[in-house]
Amino acid sequence: MRTLYTDIASLVRTGEAFGHLEVVENAAMVVEGSKVAWLGKVANAPAADEVVSLAGKTVIPGFVDSHSHLMFGGERSEEFAHRMAGQPYASGGIRTTVKATREASDQELRDNAKRLVQEFYASGITHFEIKSGYGLDVETEARSLQIASEFTEDVTYLGAHVVPEGVERSEYLELVTGEMLNACKPHAKWVDVFCDRGAFGVDEAREILKAGIAAGLQPRMHANQLENLGAIALAVELDCASVDHCTHLSAEDIAVLSGSNTVATLVPGAEFSTRSPYPDARRLVAAGVTVALATDCNPGSSFTTSMPFCIAVAVREMGLTPDQALWAATRGGAKALRNQKGTLEVGATADFAVLDAPNHIHLAYRPGVQLVEKTFVAGKQVFERNK
Ligand code: NIG
Ligand code: FE
Repeated sequence: MRTLYTDIASLVRTGEAFGHLEVVENAAMVVEGSKVAWLGKVANAPAADEVVSLAGKTVIPGFVDSHSHLMFGGERSEEFAHRMAGQPYASGGIRTTVKATREASDQELRDNAKRLVQEFYASGITHFEIKSGYGLDVETEARSLQIASEFTEDVTYLGAHVVPEGVERSEYLELVTGEMLNACKPHAKWVDVFCDRGAFGVDEAREILKAGIAAGLQPRMHANQLENLGAIALAVELDCASVDHCTHLSAEDIAVLSGSNTVATLVPGAEFSTRSPYPDARRLVAAGVTVALATDCNPGSSFTTSMPFCIAVAVREMGLTPDQALWAATRGGAKALRNQKGTLEVGATADFAVLDAPNHIHLAYRPGVQLVEKTFVAGKQVFERNK
């Protein structure tokens, strides 16, 4: 079955270089099964079995969300309200969610993730990563990852989120790098550690990531959200695919990142929801660092599933241009997961979103508006906006 999507006002493709977009106006695209079979100008469009007009709309590659924590129970709106009344954010809040996650059944965890994945689709996300990190015991970490693997191939073991209540630090390090890692590795592709104040130090993070690598997992990191402990050099030393948050970066950190294959993933929802200062993305861009945008969807620091929201905030508060932000949320996310997604080209998987807008700039220009009208994963429609 070949479907021709035609009369597209603006079709956006992402280039290999950071921030580079190729915009085709009056475009058409043919999808055959799960793949893009053709794209170009309407005037040159081939025949197809079915024709769908997208007059006045924009087609973009589906967003690639390289950082989410969808495996959890409960929620923390009260904590958010307290923060907005002046209390600071601290990593200790994670333990509240750990309690609720341990109490949740497999079906409750699955249903919660399913609901959030539907929200991802509504926001134009077509591929996403999911972390554990709210179990922090062998059983709950392993079942979280197993359920996560029902939704995505990019599953991340984050046993090293914080040291849970009632466990000695040294005992927990042994568990995370030993028994828990062994129980988790069959379900995961990535290993992550929260290297920050109140979580794990740089030497601990090195030990945890090295154990994960030795077990066949690929490293990524949460770092420099609350404080700069010197984690960036470690991320590059271990060739982490991505180092995420990067709220506090020194000039030296940026220089180290710029000569590396490690993507700097910015998570504007976290600064928004913890009322923290936004990092200046322009410093990274000027140094040639590859930047990605991710939702960091989690019940504590960033309970959003909306990539358009992240784009709008990244443009307004972090200094990315609308083109750079769109690239960072598509191709950037794909680079952070070391895959080839995040672009539209012949032969690529047909992961795309249709925006009810004449161009992609509207994503930041019209914040908070549900511009995503339809979302397709591998050629199949997974979301349609209510008319
Ligand atoms: O990415 N930074 C560490 N972990 C999560 C937040 C965890 C929480 O507060 O529940 C994050 O922001
Ligand atoms: Fe996170």
